[in-house]
Amino acid sequence: KKPQDHQPTKKQQQLEDFKVNHEGKDLTTDQGTKVSNTSESLKAGQRGPTIMEDFHFREKVTHFDHERIPERVVHARGFGAHGYFQVYEPLTDITRAKFLQDPNVKTPVFVRFSTVVGSRGSADTVRDVRGFATKFYTEEGNFDLVGNNMPIFFIQDAIKFPDLVHAIKPEPDNEIPQASAAHDTFWDWVVNNQETTHMIMWLLSDRGIPRSFRMMEGFGVHTFRLVNEQGKARFVKFHWKPKLGVHSLTWDEAQKIAGKDPDFNRKDLWDAINNGEYPEFELGLQIIEEEQEFDFDFDILDATKIWPEEQVPVKIVGKMTLNKNQDNFFAETEQAAFHMGNVVPGIDFTNDPLLQGRLFSYLDTQLLRLGGPNFHEIPINRPIIQYYNNQRDGFHRMTIDQGKVAYFPNSIRQNYPMPQPGKDGGYEHYQEKVEGRKVRTRSESFNDHFSQARLFWNSMSPAEKKHIIKAFHFEVGNVMDKKIRQKVVDLFNQVDGNLAREIAKGIGVEPPTKKNTMSITATSPALSQENTVKTPQ
Ligand code: HEM
Repeated sequence: KKPQDHQPTKKQQQLEDFKVNHEGKDLTTDQGTKVSNTSESLKAGQRGPTIMEDFHFREKVTHFDHERIPERVVHARGFGAHGYFQVYEPLTDITRAKFLQDPNVKTPVFVRFSTVVGSRGSADTVRDVRGFATKFYTEEGNFDLVGNNMPIFFIQDAIKFPDLVHAIKPEPDNEIPQASAAHDTFWDWVVNNQETTHMIMWLLSDRGIPRSFRMMEGFGVHTFRLVNEQGKARFVKFHWKPKLGVHSLTWDEAQKIAGKDPDFNRKDLWDAINNGEYPEFELGLQIIEEEQEFDFDFDILDATKIWPEEQVPVKIVGKMTLNKNQDNFFAETEQAAFHMGNVVPGIDFTNDPLLQGRLFSYLDTQLLRLGGPNFHEIPINRPIIQYYNNQRDGFHRMTIDQGKVAYFPNSIRQNYPMPQPGKDGGYEHYQEKVEGRKVRTRSESFNDHFSQARLFWNSMSPAEKKHIIKAFHFEVGNVMDKKIRQKVVDLFNQVDGNLAREIAKGIGVEPPTKKNTMSITATSPALSQENTVKTPQ
């Protein structure tokens, strides 16, 4: 297919202002002075020492010495592309977000796909969760949907994230293994954190080795809120559905490709866009009315649980098309900063304890990774509308703010930007009623770690089940400590006895000994008789 013509989006036009074409130009220093020789340093005599005076040598080498920035603490390896989003029909009833009102409006987006564990130079096709982060450059500011290709997460509370990441990253003494979950610390963490069981089922399924970024789903994971013009709020989960369908590699393919072509997924995306085969993803919403908040046998604020689609159908509301590759990997993919807190009026948060913690973590880490408080001025992160406020100075400030007033309220400057509480237009946090004692516990159903893991297992075809068992054999088979391997079998016995017995066969430990007999009858319609759930003894 030949590349299709497409109108550059407003964001793509904005980025044009920052681009530099080096072709046919003289080589200069950073100060613009023309350089006569960039291959031989200035020396005191042909065989003498290099002279400090050689400003071109010093500038060139100093800049090189400072080229690297820290890679992301997780999701270090990623690949981005530009595109646009269009809603199919106005969503006026459910949200006041302007970019979800008019089917004729193309909202620019930048998407970054990533793996989680490996470093920036690791292979693409490892077994891992894939990040799926979308920045919508709307007329009301940036909205970031920072999701994954799996609908749930490893933990229920963000305070555990450093523990999870320390366990899954390479072990600290020898930095092995690079990008694999096949090691003792990770599985030791799993057996000590039952809440991770459901996510492990997804991770060890074929979803953990996607064929292409173009062929995987995306999920916002958390429960968010949509709020309409009248102030009515509803709970929502966001989904991306690839028009090409969901496809995976086999484990054998994934391993071979990791060796032969570690850039397999990024090249696939790059080539598809260059060839005009623009990846498309439809946006889906699951919506729960506020009055139905407690109608389910799980807590809708628990990020280790899905909302079964039989109970809460996914409504398709729009489509995203990725139609332009980045011009410069570092400037765009590497400097992109996604943050859960970037929202627009009409989209709001809930008290999901994982979401609440993420609201702190992203901005915090980016202050370090991108060198201070002005990283919103980096071209890829700028909104398409101008920002005005009293934030000033700091490292790498690009804006030349005019006038002497940088405080509020003031009586020196008239027409100076100021908030107008209660008046139309500004972001109003949803006035959810909150009261309670300060506690560290969560509601009871957060402790049911196995019902949905079992639901997932039961929904798999025989071939998919076989893949999962093989994945356990590989991943857990590499764990040195036999006690941990045994505990894995005992843990997954809580999900399904057959699964546990099959796992045991391939990892050199005993089949599970304990029975998982205690059962709770499901109260929700989706968890029907055959899915009657059980809890650990
Ligand atoms: C990065 C998703 C949980 C901390 C990312 C990225 C994604 C993502 C997609 C990469 C963004 C990019 O492409 O630049 C998720 C999802 C989560 C989750 C879906 C659970 C539902 C958490 C939690 C924390 C956390 C609980 C911390 C408490 C981070 C940090 C980064 C990151 C620090 C690096 C950001 C940067 O350097 O720009 N996450 N994450 N994540 N995540 Fe998460």
